[in-house]
Amino acid sequence: MMNRLNLMLVAGARPNFMKIAPLVRAIEQHNTNRRNGDPQIDYKLVHTGQHYDPRMSTIFFQELGMPAPHINLGVGSGSHAVQTATVMTRFEPMLESARPDWLVVVGDVNSTLACTLVAAKLGVRVAHVEAGLRSFDRSMPEEINRLATDALADLLLTPSEDADRNLAAEGVDGARIRRVGNIMIDSLNAQLQSIDTLELIARRDLVPGEYIYVTLHRPANVDQPDTLQLVMGRLTELARKWTIIFPVHPRTRSRLADCEPVQSVPSGLRVVEPVGYRESLAFVRHARCVLTDSGGLQEESTFFRTPCLTLRPNTERPVTLTCGSNRLTTPEDLEHDLADVLARPARFGEIPPLWDGHTAGRTLQAILEASGFGSKHVTEDRLLQHSSRPEEAQLLSPSAV
Ligand code: UD1
Repeated sequence: MMNRLNLMLVAGARPNFMKIAPLVRAIEQHNTNRRNGDPQIDYKLVHTGQHYDPRMSTIFFQELGMPAPHINLGVGSGSHAVQTATVMTRFEPMLESARPDWLVVVGDVNSTLACTLVAAKLGVRVAHVEAGLRSFDRSMPEEINRLATDALADLLLTPSEDADRNLAAEGVDGARIRRVGNIMIDSLNAQLQSIDTLELIARRDLVPGEYIYVTLHRPANVDQPDTLQLVMGRLTELARKWTIIFPVHPRTRSRLADCEPVQSVPSGLRVVEPVGYRESLAFVRHARCVLTDSGGLQEESTFFRTPCLTLRPNTERPVTLTCGSNRLTTPEDLEHDLADVLARPARFGEIPPLWDGHTAGRTLQAILEASGFGSKHVTEDRLLQHSSRPEEAQLLSPSAV
């Protein structure tokens, strides 16, 4: 076996960047610290170009200290079919000529699925980071992306126990699953070492605990004018008492243009351009409450124990509800739920297991082991968890491996 491993990493849209950055860092650390026998890991970073505005992409590369992508497919926006097909068409020759040992994809965006499909058909092994999450709501494009990506990926790197259970319920062989933890928290932890979040909010004239941080971009919330109008009405009311900071995603911005203008917008409602990763973390950390439909913000709120209301009927991240500070709401219940949250303690909830900043290292280790490098690190707990039959667990007990 060659003592080298070739990886191709894919990032396409805003929520991918903070999941890829820790992997790049872990690869570089591995190469620096490697001892005799450890393989050199070579990687190529592909940006599909699904997100391309400087505020949706470049700023994240800068703040996360990521190298410029080796390849940018420059795909841009389009319908789901157009975007997915364009990524596939442009990615196929790149993958064909690079022929890495593994394609590593993260999250659940169209780029994740498109590159996975190409790799599966070219016979390149796929590792999916953040596998197994399910909202059980197929009206969400991300749910389709998750189901199809997990069906095809060879190595399913999961963040939580619920994800493992979802995969087991779909009949996935436990040998394909490795629970590695929440990789977003690696980026969050790394940033907290170097930024002054109080200073970042002060620059926006925000006072800790005295503002509400809002982000909305899901088609279900912003593509229906009635729903968006209703939510904007609620925010306008709320802004008579609270400062609301609302960085607006480009999709939402274009839909807002179609809404009836709100009469006399209170000065408390501050609709601003999309913000970078650092400012967003600072906003979450010091907010009185977060109101969002983003997956990432549900997790970041849980990490900071900041109350979070998620404007969705479901979440693929149930640990933020059971363990963390998150709660689901609807446009109709928003007023009541907000009042309820604001009457509760300013911080609550627990940080879930494996949100410890070491997920990228475990991810790399899992990929190395699946490639035949390093020791087989199989714990009794993992074996039991993936085997419903005790005799199977017995057969695979660590002493037998
Ligand atoms: C995508 C992901 C979603 C993720 C979100 C984070 C899919 C199916 N959805 O949704 O899971 O939560 O990213 O932002 O992959 N646009 C710009 N500039 C950009 C990018 C987009 O103006 O840099 C505008 C375009 O008008 C585009 C629209 O935003 O049509 C939507 O972009 P798209 O990538 O299709 O989906 P998102 O809503 O961003």
